Amino acid sequence: MNITVINDPVEHQSVEFVVIPYFEKSGELTGPAKNIDILLNQSISKLIKDEEIVGKASEITTIYTYGIIQPKKILIVGLGSIDNWDLEITRTVFGKLSSKLSSKENNKSLICLDSETISTPNGHQNNNQFVQAAIEGLILGGYEFTKHKSDIKDAESNILLYFNQDEIKEISKTISDTTVISNAVNLCRDLANEPSNAMTPNQLANTAKSLSLDSNLEYKELNQKQMQDLGMGALLGVAKGSKEEPKLIVLEYNGNPNSPDKLALVGKGITFDSGGISIKPATNMGDMKGDMAGGASVISAIYAIARLQPAINVIAVVPATENMPGGNAQKPGDIVTTMSGKTIEIDNTDAEGRLVLADAITYVKSLGANEIIDVATLTGAIVIALGNICAGVFSNNKELANELIVASNATGEKMWELPMFEEYSKQYNSKTADIKNVGGRGAGSITGAKIIGEFVGETPWVHIDIAGTSRTTDPKSYQTHGATGVPVRTLVQLVLNKSQSL
Ligand code: BES
Ligand code: ZN
Ligand code: MG
Repeated sequence: MNITVINDPVEHQSVEFVVIPYFEKSGELTGPAKNIDILLNQSISKLIKDEEIVGKASEITTIYTYGIIQPKKILIVGLGSIDNWDLEITRTVFGKLSSKLSSKENNKSLICLDSETISTPNGHQNNNQFVQAAIEGLILGGYEFTKHKSDIKDAESNILLYFNQDEIKEISKTISDTTVISNAVNLCRDLANEPSNAMTPNQLANTAKSLSLDSNLEYKELNQKQMQDLGMGALLGVAKGSKEEPKLIVLEYNGNPNSPDKLALVGKGITFDSGGISIKPATNMGDMKGDMAGGASVISAIYAIARLQPAINVIAVVPATENMPGGNAQKPGDIVTTMSGKTIEIDNTDAEGRLVLADAITYVKSLGANEIIDVATLTGAIVIALGNICAGVFSNNKELANELIVASNATGEKMWELPMFEEYSKQYNSKTADIKNVGGRGAGSITGAKIIGEFVGETPWVHIDIAGTSRTTDPKSYQTHGATGVPVRTLVQLVLNKSQSL
């Protein structure tokens, strides 16, 4: 999607659509729509008067211009009532609009986002935030994963955003920042939608490397030998069943070289989770190509962060491997020694996420991280607890957890914190090793989180379980089918909030 800002007269643009956002029952037209209405013989205002146009959220009324002005059609797009206005409604409205604007026949549209159009006399919306949410809806809603469809060629749609001349300077940064972040969400979706025969650990590493060449990120990877030297027995244990070599992917952004602080984003990077010897049932096993969605999200987030250049240090680490059965695969009852020295009894080879994260977290601590956020499609149990509506949050630190929730409230990527009571720990006591890798039937997401927490220690840490939210089969508005790109926007928002509070 190409976005261009313009201030030339709307009626002279040769575009398929002119989009005019309209708050419910605002009564009168404002901004460029006023003049267009006059040129079209009051056809818009008459429809408003007759209540053919009401302005309910996502209501779209199409008005043909029959060659009277250059644009072919005017779309009046309802925003709902001004009193109910929020960022999520805006994302939703523009997300739905996006698929209409990117249809094959048309690839050029103009959207009026000038302050007169989007303000009402009693308006209490923030214009910058409005524009941000609108662009998020457009870019995220226009996404489709068509790469492997031979009959579909992605037509690049061109969107002109109309502003008043005096607004353009201020809004440009909002537009470019939002474009960077939204494209990062779509990058994350691309990575997690890619099948596992294409998105191998090596391919994920190569992608991260090429992103670093395209930005001011430092790239590093550890291969199997280097992992052995560091004693990453848990990560290597998971990798044993696969022919694909594991990779530990590291991307680093140093936005504040004078500060010793370093925020780590650690993402689970299982490029395919068959379950290993504790193999999964066949139904929907294909979705496990997306078991690297956490890894994809931290790679995408740090890529956006590197472009936005906040004054903060961030490191992204992704332990990437397949979890496969095979002659050399690890087996239930095996005991592995982690990089931290702690031993883990493998009770179920399908609980592999916590194993790879354990070593990745120990590693990132050794690199000086003093705050850690991990993102993982960790447990089926989180889907039982929270459905596909929100991600689970687990933490050892109220302040960091709160920063995350605040960021998530702003982005609309819903999250909910679950408890981490000490009493849960005994569920993963082992008779033969320091701990085992599963904690039994009850509270599976909590015990999963607590097992990761065993390797975090006192460092402020938040774990986000995205097993229920990383993919959707129920697409709506700006959330299209397949990988969702959650929680890229929240991670970026959190980092921006942190850098602004310095
Ligand atoms: N990758 C899965 C979790 C998952 C489930 C992700 C559904 C996305 C959708 C994870 O590795 C897993 O298999 N977890 C087990 C843990 C259990 C063996 C303790 C699970 O949830 O069944
Ligand atoms: Zn998994
Ligand atoms: Mg598993």
